[in-house]
Amino acid sequence: MPSNQELLREATNLLPGASLGSFYIAEKDDLVVDRGKGSRVWDVAGREFVDYVLGSGPMVLGHAHPAVVAAVQAQIERGATFYALNQPAIRLADTIVKAAPCAEAVKFCGAGAEATFYALRLARAATGRDKILKFEGGYHGHHDYALMSTWPKRLDPFPAAWPDSAGIPQSVAGHVLIAPFNDLATTVSIIERYRDDLAAVIVEPLSRMLEPVPGFLQGLREATRRLGIVLIFDEVVTGFRVAWGGAQELYGVVPDLACYGKIIGGGLPIAAVAGKRDLIELANPRKKGAPDYVYMSGTLNGNPVSAAAGLATLGVLEKPGAYERLRAVGDRLRGGLRGIASRLGIPAQVLGQGPLANIYFTSEPVLDYRSSLKSDSRLTQQLGSELLARGVLTNLAAKMYLSLAHTDGDIDTTLQAFEDSLNVITAGRR
Ligand SMILES: Cc1ncc(COP(=O)(O)O)c(C=O)c1O
Repeated sequence: MPSNQELLREATNLLPGASLGSFYIAEKDDLVVDRGKGSRVWDVAGREFVDYVLGSGPMVLGHAHPAVVAAVQAQIERGATFYALNQPAIRLADTIVKAAPCAEAVKFCGAGAEATFYALRLARAATGRDKILKFEGGYHGHHDYALMSTWPKRLDPFPAAWPDSAGIPQSVAGHVLIAPFNDLATTVSIIERYRDDLAAVIVEPLSRMLEPVPGFLQGLREATRRLGIVLIFDEVVTGFRVAWGGAQELYGVVPDLACYGKIIGGGLPIAAVAGKRDLIELANPRKKGAPDYVYMSGTLNGNPVSAAAGLATLGVLEKPGAYERLRAVGDRLRGGLRGIASRLGIPAQVLGQGPLANIYFTSEPVLDYRSSLKSDSRLTQQLGSELLARGVLTNLAAKMYLSLAHTDGDIDTTLQAFEDSLNVITAGRR
């Protein structure tokens, strides 16, 4: 087997930044993952890490869970993909419809970004309007409408949109309105001002790690219902994670459409838009030619191997006690982090819900994108590097994902690594 260094050299040549997407590790610490099992991954040099990246979220059972491995093996022997209707896809759609309060029907696609892209298209077709409203700091994937003011360099007055990537046509920004998360009054005033042009409001109900303040999601629901605007919950992260019924169940607010990804594929590629039947029905291919027919199709949509992996994952999550355990493991980590920060006298806000956590190094409450900017990002970066040196793999620029495979012992080891890392960093700063 080639060494870590050889593989990294090759990757640097072949893959920009030796990265597969936007996630990368500082060059001096970089690694190539060899395998994963449960809460752990190993790199090609044989080093073991407690993993809080978890494939960016799908691996809520941990890596290589026996039920998922068996389901994938059983399905792949029966054929990898058909393009035609298949049983695992029907069963996965049924599970989503039974679990999600908003879901009456489902349309599958390949990735979370496709799901949000299609949901916005459905909303435009249903309303005959073009504009969409998203929140500053909210992430909905890679497409042009979504990549607006997610990490804006300029804090323009709302609702001006600021593209997060080069290569997005300038005209797209004119179709996107940006609002401040958790500021209902400002958001509703933008919605009302643009009511005649606004097709949809799209929101991560838990915006990155930011909790919605009481009444915020309810207020969005009330305004969008009153004005005939489609409310879309992006549940790519929260779906089947913060509760069986996702954030809709947790916060008690039912959108018109919801987007799923990550967990519903158990680590394989599949995503979905679910919601009100009349909206999803717009993508019924038997109605091709109708003026409001919405095209939604892709070679691997409803792939049976991905659907089987997702069903096996959901089968474990559905068992009694799964969500209690996910909450408990998240609470243990969050509580421990708060304790360490306060013992060391480091101003910090620890946020998260269920098996999601992150730490922001600021003394002020973090309620929206602008308040999150107060966090000491250099400290976050140094911390990630020190944790890695102590066998803990994180993506603190985004969030920490936890799984059913993380034991209390894993959390205690992790907390010790946090404390040691912060001690080293703060000693170096003194
Ligand atoms: C909330 C949210 N929506 C959409 C996406 C995009 O999903 P994907 O990366 O599968 O395209 C992500 C990805 O992290 C996400 O966190």
